[in-house]
Amino acid sequence: MSKALPRLGAGLGYRTALHQDIVANADRIDFLEVISDQYLYAPPEKLLRLLELGDAFPLIPHGVGLSVGTAAPLDGEYLDRLAQFVEATRGHWFSDHLSFTKTPDVDVEQLTPVWFTQESLEAVCRNVRQLRARIPEPPFLLENVTYYFPIPDNDLSEAEFITRVLEETDTGLLIDVNNVWINSVNLGFDPYEFLNSIPLERVVQMHIAGGVELAGMLVDTHSSAVNEQVWALAAHVVERAPVKAILLEWDSDWPEFAELLDHLDRARDLLPAPAKAGS
Ligand SMILES: [Fe+2]
Repeated sequence: MSKALPRLGAGLGYRTALHQDIVANADRIDFLEVISDQYLYAPPEKLLRLLELGDAFPLIPHGVGLSVGTAAPLDGEYLDRLAQFVEATRGHWFSDHLSFTKTPDVDVEQLTPVWFTQESLEAVCRNVRQLRARIPEPPFLLENVTYYFPIPDNDLSEAEFITRVLEETDTGLLIDVNNVWINSVNLGFDPYEFLNSIPLERVVQMHIAGGVELAGMLVDTHSSAVNEQVWALAAHVVERAPVKAILLEWDSDWPEFAELLDHLDRARDLLPAPAKAGS
């Protein structure tokens, strides 16, 4: 899947609070990832302002509200709006999470892990196929999420579940190495073993971020510097996967913008150098 996709480099999650700094440093930011859900129901002016950024940066839509893990068909109106948004951004790919944010009746408004069961696998695959029937292009990626308790009565491990979903629906992987790190610490497993047991050849994009420790657990807050263990996991993946893009997620407690740019430089250096024109 990823051979035909462009190498985007090192990008930043677009946040309106960072707008001025992002525009002023366009030469040091290779692409922007934008949260689709903030635009699907927004006034047209908001979308137009975002699309103007598309002149300076490739825009990559990233959703939180698709809810592929819901045991019910996806919302048709949401899909229609998402299709329009993805087309408007001209994203090389788009993504959402391997989780649910809604039950058929209730919006839980939070990325919630799916049960790693055969029944849940079938629901996720059905929903991804429904998505792809409505939005067949560009490629779609699913992201691994954090969860803060051992999920009981699974039929499959998380790695088996991810592998089955991606392979049965021919979907790409957005690997969040901070999420892998956080789960490995909180739930007590080896993050390298986990990474080596999922189909890394399907990775297109990577997320890096920093969390905080709260009540003895690591929490995925996107509010601190990327730690050395996460950088090491990122390097491990890049050596084994056709990573096209590394994205820094930083949502609050921002340091000087220069520190974010330093993160992007370090992330870019992990990736293989771009092929020279004509070579
Ligand atoms: Fe992420």
